[in-house]
Amino acid sequence: MKFFIDTANLDDIREAYELGVLDGVTTNPSLMAKEGISGDEKVRAHYKAICDIVDDKVSAEVISTDFEGMIREGKELAKIDDKIVVKIPMVKDGIKALKYFSNEGIRTNCTLIFSAGQALIAAKAGANYVSPFIGRLDDIAYDGMDLIAQIVHIYGNYGFETEVLAASVRHTMHLLKCAEVGADVVTCPLKVITGLINHPLTDSGLATFLADHAKAAGK
Ligand code: E4P
Repeated sequence: MKFFIDTANLDDIREAYELGVLDGVTTNPSLMAKEGISGDEKVRAHYKAICDIVDDKVSAEVISTDFEGMIREGKELAKIDDKIVVKIPMVKDGIKALKYFSNEGIRTNCTLIFSAGQALIAAKAGANYVSPFIGRLDDIAYDGMDLIAQIVHIYGNYGFETEVLAASVRHTMHLLKCAEVGADVVTCPLKVITGLINHPLTDSGLATFLADHAKAAGK
């Protein structure tokens, strides 16, 4: 299972990368805005700064929703660095754009997936990743995890190479359930990744080991 970090914050990306478990980064226009990044030049520079931290796979989202605009923007984004994956929204022109980029050898991540039908057509169009949003479905009383399992099952039936990139992951249980149902990738905030590390029994066990060692050494 691959771990992506879902942020445009350079410190968080650096911290996750230094842990040695990071496989990529996803951003979206809201996350870029949260870091105060706006304007073509600043946006491009910020994506470049992210690419310089990690080894590969930095999702950069287009703002256009029409085919020509998505192609123009996607090509510009792809030029920033070989690590860029162009993020395309699940709209009709987005499907055409996925097909276009697939033919051009430019990697894509189809975002804002909320149904298995959307995931199926994105895979047919050649998306490298689909991003089903778990948390936002949970928010409206649909089980986001059911959707992940359904997409994994459908892709398995036909051998689609499109990877299921579970998004809108809000806590460690989301991440663990994704691992159980076979999502290829999870993207989540830093705190969800580091949340996997801690356990009170580890802390108390370590404290005892160190105290016993000190006692035996006569300290
Ligand atoms: C996915 O790529 C999105 O950036 C993200 O996971 C959305 O998460 P949210 O619902 O917590 O905003």
